[in-house]
Amino acid sequence: MKVIRTVNELKDWSAESRAQGLSIGFVPTMGALHAGHMSLVTRAREENDRVAVSVFVNPTQFNNPTDLATYPRTEEADLKLLEDAGVDVAFVPSVEEMYPEPDTRVFDLGPVAEVMEGAMRPGHFNGVAQVVSRLFEMVSPTRAYFGEKDFQQIAVIRRMVQLEGGFNGLEIVDVPIKREDDGLAMSSRNVRLTPEMRMAAPAIHRALINAAAQPRTLSPAEVIDLTVKEINSVPGLETEYFQIVDGHSCQPIARWEESDMPVGCITVYAGDVRLIDNVKF
Ligand code: PAF
Repeated sequence: MKVIRTVNELKDWSAESRAQGLSIGFVPTMGALHAGHMSLVTRAREENDRVAVSVFVNPTQFNNPTDLATYPRTEEADLKLLEDAGVDVAFVPSVEEMYPEPDTRVFDLGPVAEVMEGAMRPGHFNGVAQVVSRLFEMVSPTRAYFGEKDFQQIAVIRRMVQLEGGFNGLEIVDVPIKREDDGLAMSSRNVRLTPEMRMAAPAIHRALINAAAQPRTLSPAEVIDLTVKEINSVPGLETEYFQIVDGHSCQPIARWEESDMPVGCITVYAGDVRLIDNVKF
């Protein structure tokens, strides 16, 4: 596996791969890799001739400096996992390499980016659009892989790709959430959970399963109410939001008939760790 730290070298590798007619699967990450990320890498490996993975904690998508400072960084272990998974290129740039000048672009991401994470974390999705569009330009991937844990992020990225003209027919592939045996969605943030909060956190997934099993005679608002009460009754867990949205537009629905793909998206604080998850109804 090649470890590339400069944009020029990455572009050369990509151009050389493309010139040979090889497809490139790309997995953007912020490192602290776990089995969830590796399921994206495995899928990229299966479907492409070459695989590139970026490891970059993108400062422009953090609206909370403490969150950025405490984001886990485990480069050596990440590179070992990627090498073992048969990745061709790990792109590990510095902040200066990614942003030689500040990125001042403002993307017109529309309603999909205004709700839920967009409302709670102002500027977050614009920062994601900045870094992902840069990475797509550098890697020129055939396919790019994203985890469904960040359900809204995938919708935002699809919108950004459309705004930027499609990046030469790039295909965005969404990959199902990978869970621990007790149902907790895998996340780089899970390592920050205290032992008590790690015990409590699987209640989030249990409540989502219960929500999806509720009869449709209950309205989305009633299901939301029950679910939030169930989660908040667990000591240490505090729901920030739970919304039932249309899976295409990410807009909240008031009645089930409004969507052919209702999705329940949730954010919960387990102590001071912010966890997100979702369920398809
Ligand atoms: O999902 C993430 O880890 C990040 O938002 C991404 C897509 C790598 C952009 O920094």
